[in-house]
Amino acid sequence: MLESIPFMKTSKNQKKFACPVSVKDLILPCFVIEGTRRKEPIRSMPGISRFTVDLLSKEISQARRLGIRSVILFGVCSRRHRNETGEYAYSPNSIVARAVAAIKDIFSDVCVMTDICLCAYMSHGHCGIVKKGSRHIDVKATLEALSKMAVTHARAGADWVAPSAMTHRQVRTLRRALDRYGFKKTKILGYSAKFASNFYGPFRDAADSAPQFGDRSGYQLHYADSKRALREIADDIQEGAAMVMVKPALSYLDILKEARLKHPFPLAAYNVSGEYAMVKQGAKAGFWDEKKMVFEILSSIKRAGADKIITYHAKDAAGWLKA
Ligand code: PBG
Repeated sequence: MLESIPFMKTSKNQKKFACPVSVKDLILPCFVIEGTRRKEPIRSMPGISRFTVDLLSKEISQARRLGIRSVILFGVCSRRHRNETGEYAYSPNSIVARAVAAIKDIFSDVCVMTDICLCAYMSHGHCGIVKKGSRHIDVKATLEALSKMAVTHARAGADWVAPSAMTHRQVRTLRRALDRYGFKKTKILGYSAKFASNFYGPFRDAADSAPQFGDRSGYQLHYADSKRALREIADDIQEGAAMVMVKPALSYLDILKEARLKHPFPLAAYNVSGEYAMVKQGAKAGFWDEKKMVFEILSSIKRAGADKIITYHAKDAAGWLKA
């Protein structure tokens, strides 16, 4: 094998570099569904499943044994609970609220984050409440719903809430709502630079949250708009986020690096569903070695400046790091 030829110029170099990624950097995304005793594999994301609350603890216990200490939860609401207000998102009985409580009850050392967005609770699949008779987001109503959702999750025990609806001033609004209800310690992870990306395809399959009309370009960033991305990051820091995020990761490593250089502030990157699916499909086709590919990708995200990486590879990577 090439890598073992001792006289190659790079061989010494290769050894010098330990893997920069540690299991502590990884955040595992989990999809929660209604019902009991169901584990549903996601067709577009081989190796990832959606779990009912009772089975989720098993998944998290496995992850925990591998050294993972942070998870982010996404609720996948059944069609019958969806409507034009997305109110199920902030019901105290919602799947995510119950999942948070169940996890915190069993694993007090696992940091639980929740995604704060309405798309999986809406009949139309958009991230906010749409004004009646129009195709515009009702910002005020959306912020109110997102605030209620965040407070509900905080009350259930969430350590972090992560607003991803890309509504104007969502971080400031959530910070105020959390403080007002006595959840000063609940932190906010801003999906600050969230691009309207083609890489979210498999996630929308997983969460059944594809918009029924139009697209998300009205509230997510255009992939060419680096200036606005950096402005959003600065704004979220100002508004009270405790960590900011760039999403997706791989096509936006430049943004990540710029954010890193500009702000000495906790920074996360989301290695999204489409990025994951490509690695899996390529490995399945025999185009590359999955483990090597995953390490190269995670290392590049880390090298660009991410402190934390949300990734569907988390369990595999943790296992490989341990071996
Ligand atoms: C909710 C949300 C999305 C993702 C995370 N939160 C989907 C979207 O914006 O359409 C995508 C994550 C992924 O692709 O892994 N708004």
